[in-house]
Amino acid sequence: MRLEHHLDIHLNETRQFLPPVEFSSTAKIDAESYAQLQKEAQENPVAFWEKAARNLVWKKPWKTGLIWNAPKAQWFAEGKLNVTESCLDRHLATDRRHKNAIVWEGEDGEIQKITYEELHRQVCQLASVLVNKGIRVGDTVAIYMPLVPEAVVAMLACARVGAIHSVIFGGFSAESIKDRVNDAGCSLIITADGGYRKGQIVSLKKNIDKALQEQACPTVHTVLVYRRTNSDVEMTPGRDVWWQEAVQNLEKQDLLFDAVSVDSEHPLFILYTSGTTGKPKGIVHTSGGYLTQVAATTSWVFDLKEDDIYWCTADVGWITGHSYVVYGPLACGATVFLYEGAPLHPAPDRFWEMIEKHKISILYTAPTAIRTFMRLGDAHVKKHDLSSLRLLGTVGEPINPEAWMWYREIVGGSRCPIVDTWWQTETGAMMIAPVPGAVITKPGSATRPLPGIQMDVVDGNGQSCGTKMGGYLVARHPWPSMARGIWKDEDRFQETYWSQMPGLYFAGDGARIDEDGNFWIMGRIDDVVNISGHRIGTMEVESALVSHPLVAEAAVVARPDEITGQAIVAFVTLKENIAFDGNLEKKLMQTVTQQIGSFAKPAAIRFTDSLPKTRSGKIMRRLLRELATKGKITGDTTTLEDFSALVALQQEEAL
Ligand code: PRX
Repeated sequence: MRLEHHLDIHLNETRQFLPPVEFSSTAKIDAESYAQLQKEAQENPVAFWEKAARNLVWKKPWKTGLIWNAPKAQWFAEGKLNVTESCLDRHLATDRRHKNAIVWEGEDGEIQKITYEELHRQVCQLASVLVNKGIRVGDTVAIYMPLVPEAVVAMLACARVGAIHSVIFGGFSAESIKDRVNDAGCSLIITADGGYRKGQIVSLKKNIDKALQEQACPTVHTVLVYRRTNSDVEMTPGRDVWWQEAVQNLEKQDLLFDAVSVDSEHPLFILYTSGTTGKPKGIVHTSGGYLTQVAATTSWVFDLKEDDIYWCTADVGWITGHSYVVYGPLACGATVFLYEGAPLHPAPDRFWEMIEKHKISILYTAPTAIRTFMRLGDAHVKKHDLSSLRLLGTVGEPINPEAWMWYREIVGGSRCPIVDTWWQTETGAMMIAPVPGAVITKPGSATRPLPGIQMDVVDGNGQSCGTKMGGYLVARHPWPSMARGIWKDEDRFQETYWSQMPGLYFAGDGARIDEDGNFWIMGRIDDVVNISGHRIGTMEVESALVSHPLVAEAAVVARPDEITGQAIVAFVTLKENIAFDGNLEKKLMQTVTQQIGSFAKPAAIRFTDSLPKTRSGKIMRRLLRELATKGKITGDTTTLEDFSALVALQQEEAL
C-alpha cells in the first residue's frame, strides 16, 4: 500500500485558537480537569474506562474490565445491561422525565416534540410488536427509514428486545438492501411508506418490495411499515403490517416492556460500510463498551449540559447517526434535534432558520455541508440570529482551514469553539478530537487523541514517525467502542485492520503529527473514497458499472472536489463492436444509482479504448488518478503495457 499526501495544505497552517475564556470557565472539563483525565487514562486505560462505564445502568456488574486477545476484545466481560435503560429508563426517575428527548422538524415544517417519558412509551410498544412478530434476542432486524423520530424508536426497540439492528441508509437502492438483508439474515424489516426530500416523496417501501421480490431475501417474514406520507403502497398479505395498526392492536399488558438483559459483548448493531473490495463489510458493535465510549465522548467533546439543544445533522443510516444522534446523546439525557429533509430546501437558509427557531446550541455537521453553505454566501447565515450556538463540530472528512475559519467566524460568530472529530464506523466513537474547554485548536487538525485513546502515526514497519513526516494512522491500545468484527467474516476483519502492522489497529488513513502533538488527517490511503463524508469503495462502483451489459472494464478513482472533498471519476471500456451511443453515460449513471444509490454516482465517466495496465495486468489507478486530477501524467510509466489508451485520454482532456 502506498501512502499519498493529498492534503499537504494542512501542514502549512500556523493559526491556533485557545479555548475561549467564557467557554472554559463554565465548561465541564477545563484545562486542569483535562490534564487529570489524561493522567488517569495514561496510568491505567482500562481502569479509566471502567470508571466511565460506571456512569451507565448495569443489570449485573462486569468481572473483568478488558480481555484482549487480539483482535478480539471483550470489554466489561460478564457484565449485563440493556442499553435502552441507560438511554431511557434511568431518566424517567429524574426531572428529565418531562424533558424533550427529541425535537423533530419535518421537511414540510411540521414539528414534533417527544419527551423522554413518551419516547420510552413508544419504544416499549414497538418492542412488544417485535416480540409479537417472533423477534428474539440475537435476531437481526433491518431498518430502512426516513429521518423521523420513529427511526430512533425502531433502533431502540430492537435494542430493548436484544435484537441486532442493521440500519440501511434511505439513499441505498433495492439491490443494496437485498445484499445487506441477506448478509445479515434479517427476519424483519422496519420501513415507512416514504419520506420527504427536496419536496418529493422518496418511495422507501417500493424499494423494499423490489429488494424482496421473487423470494430474493428468504429470511424475511415480516415488513413493518410506518405510515409517514400516506402515499400509495402495496401491502403484501401475510408479510406486511402497518406499524400504527400493530401498536394500536397491542394488549394492555404489552404497553410496557421490560428491557431484556444482555451480555456486555452482545451485538447491538451491524452497520455496513465500504471497504477495498466490492462487498461492503458488516461492522459489528456490541453493547457495554460501545455505549460507554459514545456516552463519555458525547459529554466531553460536546460539553453537553442539561439545557443544550443539540443537533447532529447526520442520518441514522450512518455511524454518526448511531453514535451521536441516538445512543450517545440519549445516554446523556440530551434534547436531540432532528431534521427530516434536505439542507437547502426550500431555501438556502433552512439550517440557520431552524437554529434560530429551535435555539440550537450545539451543531455537529460535515465539512461538505460547511463548504456548500460557504459557497452560497454569508448573507443566508447573517439573516438569522444564531446567538444560541455555543459549540460547533465537524466529522466525516478532512476540513480545509478556509472552511474551518468560515465556520468559526460566520456561523460561530468567533465565539464558539470548533471540535473537529476523527473517527470511523469501525471505531464506533470519537478517537481524536479536542475537548473544547481545554484543548488549543488549529484549523484543519482534529487535534489530539481523547483520554483513554492511544493513537500514533507509523511507517510501513510499524515504527512511530515522530513529528517529521507523515505515515499510517494506527491505534496502539484497544478501546471500548471498537468494532468486534465483520459479520460472518472474521478473516477479513483480521486481515483488513490487524495484519498490516502486527499488534496495531490500521485505520486506513494517512496522517501527520505536528510538534505540538496535533494530528493532521490526510485522508484515505486505500481504495476508499470519501464523498461528502460518505464512504464509498471504488470497487463497489466498478462492479456496479461492469454489471451493465455493454461495459467491459471499469476503473474508478477519486479526484479532489472543492465542495464534496472528493469526487468519483470512472474510466470505462466498452465491449467489442459496441457503437458508442450518446446516452450511455446517462445509462451508466442509472446503473450505479440502481446498484448502490444516487449518492455514489460518478462526477464524470470517461470512455476509453483500453485501460492503462502493468505488464502483470493490474490497472494503474495511480495514473488514472493523476489524469483525473491534473489532466496529465507526470509519474513513472515504465511498467505500463499499453500507452495508447493514456495518450488518447490525455488528448481528450486537453481539448
Ligand atoms: O478517512 C477518515 C474520514 O472518514 C473515514 C471514516 O468514514 P466512516 O466510517 O464513514 O465514518 C465517518 C464518520 C465518523 C475515516 O477513515 N474521517 C472521519 N472523520 C474525519 C475524517 N477525516 C478527517 N478528519 C475527520 N475529522
